[in-house]
Amino acid sequence: MKLIIAVIKPFKLDEVREALTSVGVRGMMVSEIKGFGAQSGHTEVYRGAEYVVNFVPKLRLEIVVPDDLAEQVVATIARTAKTDKIGDGKIFTLDVEGALRVRTGETNDDAL
Ligand SMILES: Nc1ncnc2c1ncn2[C@@H]1O[C@H](COP(=O)(O)OP(=O)(O)OP(=O)(O)O)[C@@H](O)[C@H]1O
Ligand SMILES: [Mg+2]
Repeated sequence: MKLIIAVIKPFKLDEVREALTSVGVRGMMVSEIKGFGAQSGHTEVYRGAEYVVNFVPKLRLEIVVPDDLAEQVVATIARTAKTDKIGDGKIFTLDVEGALRVRTGETNDDAL
């Protein structure tokens, strides 16, 4: 299994979620975060406001998927989150050791 951590622009959430469910993603975590990337200290526009501070509001998505779905999930997020402007986000992929569905006791791929 892989854990895909994606940082996206908040207004892209619905589009990204819909695209991911259509490729077979069955669950995800979403957190409101603030962050900065390569333009730290410069301005980035968010909802019409220019942020001159270092931190810009973003959403962090965490998605655990079977190995064979990971590449497609990354490609889907990359395609749907892209606006071609700075701050479009980043996607990280990590290995996952285990998963457990609490209600049923199913493990690993079956638990996703
Ligand atoms: N190296 C990193 N490690 C962890 N989080 C990061 C990293 N780089 C970016 N992020 C997170 O992703 C968000 C968006 O990054 P961003 O898209 O601005 O990256 P960038 O490298 O500046 O690319 P761009 O030039 O397209 O803006 C940041 O606000 C931060 O939350
Ligand atoms: Mg940036």
